Amino acid sequence: MEIVITPDYGSMSRTSAAIIANEIRRKHDLVLGLATGDTPVGTYRELARLHREEGLDFSKITTFNLDEYLGLAPVHKNSYNQFMWENLFKHVNMSPHRAFVPQGNTADPEVLSEWYEQQIRKAGGIDLQVLGIGRDGHIGFNEPGSSFASRTRVKGLYEQTIKDNARFFASEADVPRFAITMGVGTILEARKILLIASGAGKAEVCHEFIEGPVTSQVTASALQLHSFAIVVLDEEAAAKLKRKEYYNWIRDNKHVVQKQIGR
Ligand code: F6R
Repeated sequence: MEIVITPDYGSMSRTSAAIIANEIRRKHDLVLGLATGDTPVGTYRELARLHREEGLDFSKITTFNLDEYLGLAPVHKNSYNQFMWENLFKHVNMSPHRAFVPQGNTADPEVLSEWYEQQIRKAGGIDLQVLGIGRDGHIGFNEPGSSFASRTRVKGLYEQTIKDNARFFASEADVPRFAITMGVGTILEARKILLIASGAGKAEVCHEFIEGPVTSQVTASALQLHSFAIVVLDEEAAAKLKRKEYYNWIRDNKHVVQKQIGR
C-alpha cells in the first residue's frame, strides 16, 4: 500500500481527485468504482471543477457505486443514487446509462446483486475503485466479519454505522438497517484501489487497517492483499500511524526509483 499523508481535508480532496483525473486522462473509457459519504464530497467537487475549468471528459466513463440502502428508491432524497447526482454526476458530462448504483428498492435483492456483478464483468471489470472507510473498518458496507471472498449482496449494518449515518436522516430510527453492497471480493478485483480518509475520528481505524493484522474484523485490512492500493489521508486521520516518517520519506523519494527504472 502506498500511504500519502496530506495536510488537511482540502489537500486530501485535491490529491485524490488528481489521481482519479489522471486515470481518466490515461483511459477515456475508464471503469470507475465510487463511494458516497462525507469523505469524497471534496474529491467530487474538485473533479467537477476539473471538468468545468480544464475539460476533464467523463463522457465515456462507466461508474459503479459501492452500495445503496436497501428499501430506498433511487429518487429517495437519502439514497446514494441521489447523493451521486447531487455531488458529482449532474456537474460533469456523465452518460446516465453508464452510471450504475444498486437499486435499493429492488423486489429481489439476490437477482439484483448477481445482475450488478454481471454488469461489472460486462464493462471489463473496475479499473479504479474509490473507497472511504467506516469507523468500524468497513469498506462499502462490508461490516466486521464480512468474508474477503464476499460478492455483491445484502448486508446488515453494524450499530456504530447506523449511529454514524444517522446525521444524514431525520432520526436514527430512519436509517435503513440493511444495504446492498459490493463484497470485499468484488472490491479486491478492481485493478487499482484508492482509499481516502479524513479527520480524527478515523485515526484509530486507519492505524488498524494499514499497520495491523489482515482480518475480516477490519475489512479495509484486505487492502494489504491488493497489489495496487493507494491510501490518501489527512494529518488528523494519519495521527496514529506508527510509520508516518517512513511513508513521507517514500512519498518524497519515489521519483528517485522511478528515474532509476526509467519511468
Ligand atoms: C459509502 C461507503 C462507506 C463510507 C464509509 C465512510 O458508499 O461505502 O463505506 O465510505 O462509511 O463514510 P464517511 O465518508 O461519511 O465517513
